[in-house]
Amino acid sequence: MKALITGGAGFIGSHIVDELVRRGCRVIVYDNFSTGHRLHLEPALRSGLVTVVEGDILDLPELTAAMEGVSTVFHLAANADVRGGMADTRSDLEQNTVGTHRVLEAMRSVRADTIVFTSSATVYGEPSVFPTPEDYAPLQTSLYGASKLAAEAMIQAYGEYFEIRSYTFRFVSWIGERYSHGVVFDFVKKLLGNPEELEILGDGNQRKSYLHVADGIRGIFAAVDTIQDRKSVLNLGHVEFMTVKDLARIVTEEMGLSNVAFRYTGGVRGWLGDSPFVLLDTSRIQATGFSPQVSIEEGIRRTTRYLLANRWLLEARPTGKHLTRQGKACLAREPQ
Ligand SMILES: NC(=O)c1ccc[n+]([C@@H]2O[C@H](COP(=O)([O-])OP(=O)(O)OC[C@H]3O[C@@H](n4cnc5c(N)ncnc54)[C@H](O)[C@@H]3O)[C@@H](O)[C@H]2O)c1
Repeated sequence: MKALITGGAGFIGSHIVDELVRRGCRVIVYDNFSTGHRLHLEPALRSGLVTVVEGDILDLPELTAAMEGVSTVFHLAANADVRGGMADTRSDLEQNTVGTHRVLEAMRSVRADTIVFTSSATVYGEPSVFPTPEDYAPLQTSLYGASKLAAEAMIQAYGEYFEIRSYTFRFVSWIGERYSHGVVFDFVKKLLGNPEELEILGDGNQRKSYLHVADGIRGIFAAVDTIQDRKSVLNLGHVEFMTVKDLARIVTEEMGLSNVAFRYTGGVRGWLGDSPFVLLDTSRIQATGFSPQVSIEEGIRRTTRYLLANRWLLEARPTGKHLTRQGKACLAREPQ
């Protein structure tokens, strides 16, 4: 198999690259390096099976050229910053929805037949059913969730027209090696700056499910290896959940800190669009034989240790725009 992976230099994407290489596949990493890192790809590059193309998914001619001869596309490139939607109301639409449209158009041109798409539990907004099943009819609470749901819908429609098989995964928050954004990242970074006090967004009672990257990768491939349906939508999460307060306690403990004062910003949500409770019904993915092996607590401890040993990552996350000059130029050429 020859696969192309958009966002292959990112946290999750680079682990998919590793797994594809382990399976002997030829892999094209297509990434604009807005949040990804070449260092994540070093082990895979040693195999000689990986080609890196620095490009933006919004650049359709370049993306199509890179996709020549590819059968399966893993589409991960996105604005993965779920909190940024209020400050920049275009980014989710452009990166996640228009970006997915570009990927589908390129696939249509080169006749690629399978897409694996990384969606999110955020598409459920604030559900009233727990654990939340895939067929729950949600109301949207964030532009990130809305843009992912729109991308999912487009993938299904392209699948109908152009016979593209699709695997759409709705993830809870992933943790683990190469982790580069999210609550553990924020806590470790804040605590290194001030080991005496930790600001926690919300009241700390938000309950969330987290999945270690080793389990996540096993879940993705368990589904892709066994499910033959034309269109699959699968929750991918842990059966456990944990409060943000408990997570903060584990992080501080793992950092060897005691007597840290927790300061809560208040309210049941960390930010607008945040869901106070995330727990997905994973019976569909579990029917493939998959079940998580790493407990949430162990996953948080391993993630904290990883970040402490790789402090460059804590400084590397860009805080501003995700849209590169190349991406902007592509959008500017088209009628809005
Ligand atoms: N990390 C999670 O907990 C989580 C949860 C739910 C869904 N997801 C989804 O999984 C995917 C991967 O997330 P991640 O945590 O690895 O994020 P990440 O930011 O580490 O990876 C995203 C990658 O895409 C690249 N990229 C971004 N915009 C691009 C563009 N326009 N063109 C080309 N490359 C581009 C970045 O450089 C980066 O390498 C995303 O689609 C995200 O929305 C992640």
